[in-house]
Amino acid sequence: MAVTTETQRLDAHKLRADFPVFEELINGRPVAFLDSAASAQKPRQVLDRMREFYEHEYANVHRGVYKLAERATAGYELARETAAAFVNAPSPRELIFTRSATEGLNLVAYAWGLDNLGPGDVVVASELDHHSNFVPWQYVAKRTGAEFRVIPTDAQGELHLDVLDEIDRAGNVKIVANNLVSNSLGTINPAEQLSAWAHERGAIMVVDAAQAAPHRAIDVQALGCDFLAFSSHKLCGPSGIGALWGKRELLEQMSPFNLGGHMIRQVTVEETTWGQLPYKFEAGTMPIAEAVGFAAAIDYVNGIGLDAIERHEHELVAYALDRLGDIPGLIGYGPPADRRAGIVSFNLEGIHPHDVSQILDMDNVAIRGGHHCTQPLMRRLGVAATNRASFYLYTIPDEIDRLVEGLHKVRKVLG
Ligand SMILES: Cc1ncc(COP(=O)(O)O)c(C=O)c1O
Repeated sequence: MAVTTETQRLDAHKLRADFPVFEELINGRPVAFLDSAASAQKPRQVLDRMREFYEHEYANVHRGVYKLAERATAGYELARETAAAFVNAPSPRELIFTRSATEGLNLVAYAWGLDNLGPGDVVVASELDHHSNFVPWQYVAKRTGAEFRVIPTDAQGELHLDVLDEIDRAGNVKIVANNLVSNSLGTINPAEQLSAWAHERGAIMVVDAAQAAPHRAIDVQALGCDFLAFSSHKLCGPSGIGALWGKRELLEQMSPFNLGGHMIRQVTVEETTWGQLPYKFEAGTMPIAEAVGFAAAIDYVNGIGLDAIERHEHELVAYALDRLGDIPGLIGYGPPADRRAGIVSFNLEGIHPHDVSQILDMDNVAIRGGHHCTQPLMRRLGVAATNRASFYLYTIPDEIDRLVEGLHKVRKVLG
């Protein structure tokens, strides 16, 4: 692993050797993978760990008394400890494995929201939120008769917090949900401030850290939130697994979300009682090898250092914004480089983002064109879609140069 800890810098060129995907060359060049916000590539350390687990440690967890089951259970529970420590959770029992960040957010919406909301209550999300942290809140608000309010963004894609007073007057604020980093614009949101505001009103704060956890150090205690969801696949780990951290007293009070095997204490014909935390929320066979792969991914990014990753991405964003600024007809969205994570969003005047990404793909440059699951934000920006290039620990400036070259070509072909 290529890290010089004294200077908190990473060497992306060296780290790329860990990622088999960059070995495939097309016209002599590897993919310029600029879509890590959608999902990150996987290093050998994660792939090898999952293979080793399947070959030597695999069985179902918690159920068998034989050696393989014990190894599998140890691997799965160690993964829980790793994921809990990663976000500085006070206890691994507060860390629930889910299928994804989306499932974690739905878990809170259903298991907390449906039982605690009603007419006169207010549920708050923001215009910057991913549909995963927007639609569940809008839905439970409708189901319970609560009001759904949205914090708007300003022209730079930063939250307009001065509307909070007005939202406060709309009723009993019960939930504030927000992402820590916007997946469409890279905006870094003031989660601590929103947590404090929520708590002053007796509300709970739900943080969607899907786009933050892979890129910056997360501390749930410093954020002061009540729930925080993140996922493995954006963090160099396998897909199919995520994590939800929640405060123990809230999790204890909540009804289960999924019902079935393993989450029970006792089942009789008359009644079922629930198991203890975290098992109450982990019904059925969980993604076991994926949990182990998730932990390997966390070890991998921890080994590089979240501060080094964050710094690297800040430098890439500053470079990208500078280079993109030279392209005629390019409209950029989002805050200045120092207030955003490794994401740039833009449009080329008069050219649909899907056409842009298709032409870039001809030169093996992979970016995303679409609404990025943030349709309310797209409406605010007055567009149907944007192009989005997003960076990670393996991104190098050469890939941004290839993007810029490609965009000049797009303008020539379609401009
Ligand atoms: C900000 C944000 N929240 C939630 C999600 C959903 O995460 P998952 O794919 O783990 O369900 C995403 C994925 O793009 C995201 O960017």
